[in-house]
Amino acid sequence: MKIAVAGTGYVGLITGVCLAEMGHRVICTDIKEEKIQLLKTGRSPIFEPGLEPMLKNNLLSGRLEFTSNPKMAYKDAEIIFIAVGTPENHDGTANLDYVHAAAYSIGMCIENDVIVCTKSTVPVGTNDKIKEIIQSVKPPPHQAEVVSNPEFLREGSAIIDFFNGDRIILGTESKSAAAKLEQLYLPLKIPIIKTDTKSAEMIKYASNAFLAAKISFINEIAAICEKTGANIEEVAYGIGKDKRIGPYFLQAGIGYGGSCFPKDTKALVQLAGNVQHKFDLLESVIKVNNRQQTLPVSLAKNVLGSLEGKRVALLGLAFKPDTDDVREAASLKIAKRLLENDASVIAYDPAAVTNARQVLGDEIEYTLDLQIALDNADLAIIATEWDQIKHLPLELYIERMKSPVIIDGRNCYSLRDIRRHSISYISIGRPSIIQDKIMEGKII
Ligand code: UDX
Repeated sequence: MKIAVAGTGYVGLITGVCLAEMGHRVICTDIKEEKIQLLKTGRSPIFEPGLEPMLKNNLLSGRLEFTSNPKMAYKDAEIIFIAVGTPENHDGTANLDYVHAAAYSIGMCIENDVIVCTKSTVPVGTNDKIKEIIQSVKPPPHQAEVVSNPEFLREGSAIIDFFNGDRIILGTESKSAAAKLEQLYLPLKIPIIKTDTKSAEMIKYASNAFLAAKISFINEIAAICEKTGANIEEVAYGIGKDKRIGPYFLQAGIGYGGSCFPKDTKALVQLAGNVQHKFDLLESVIKVNNRQQTLPVSLAKNVLGSLEGKRVALLGLAFKPDTDDVREAASLKIAKRLLENDASVIAYDPAAVTNARQVLGDEIEYTLDLQIALDNADLAIIATEWDQIKHLPLELYIERMKSPVIIDGRNCYSLRDIRRHSISYISIGRPSIIQDKIMEGKII
């Protein structure tokens, strides 16, 4: 099939490259000329395992093209995917300017019947608006059918997710459009759920809100575990064995970040408000997450007292491992809070330093060497569970730090391993291990 993709951000690029890999002819377009030029050389503007080799292969085969000229992309496409950004407005609602502009541009450029398939996360009713915009600029005989086809790709495993998703959602009022999309996705052998457009739009928000709720729930239980002496890992394992609960998304820690959960939960609260429903549960999920993201700083003050003049090694900047993305990452809030408390911060991350520097500037130091980060540090805070951090021998904390205190926001180490070392260790929802010399005069 001849496919166009509007937007070469995370979702658009993965979608375009993977559809080309399936054998389709794909042309991706973006308003950012420099991004298109980079992509034409086979280089990816985003860090995603496996993406660049697949991008290069498909460029070479001629199945994949990039253009900044929307007319080139849309004029004879059979299916056009809209995968442009829906950033957050000040009030938490989703900004649909890019989506509406893409719809307008599609209407201006198409020269035959087309299926417009929305991958961007959009509030309920947006696909109706997309159809209205296209029709307003392109009167019949050209037909544009709209389909809501939300994506569930996770950063860091997006290619695997594309080819092995749990389900594909197709929301449309057009039977022929649903049949065509079904044909497109059939080789993936992923269950396809056909539904109406509005339900499909809601499925995306509800999925992300539910997963966010699982995380905040387990973090609340972790807080109670800490106070009662229970261990959150034992508890999560025990409840996860119940098939109705399931074992996933029960990892307690310093909360969720990234480009989806924080934005989509807020947008759903707003969406509910628009129809006079106060989404109390989701508001609490967001509140718990905000508290969780800066928890390491409160814990640090409990152990060390004042943080003034203390050197802190912040281990991990990305919102999760295997990505360079720092959007809504807990690390950023932790770094700012540490600076407000007059601590000095040196941050380690194997991939996200460039992106973090754009937000935090030079107020903190950065290093790509984990051991250098630990040198002479009073405290180490683990914000991302990178393998490099998980596999770091504990002896190195002892060798490099002044008197090792670790606040582990991602529960990277087993308590049994920690107990074999002279390290003070505070994690999330598990008993703390504090060495006597640290305890003197401190509130634990
Ligand atoms: C998420 C959804 O999983 C995906 O379906 C959607 O398309 C986009 O949003 P992503 O943001 O890439 O994907 O990351 P994900 O792996 O879901 O993790 C999100 C955040 O939750 C991370 O900060 C992670 O550290 C945190 N998390 C996840 C937890 O704190 N505990 C968990 O048990 C799972």
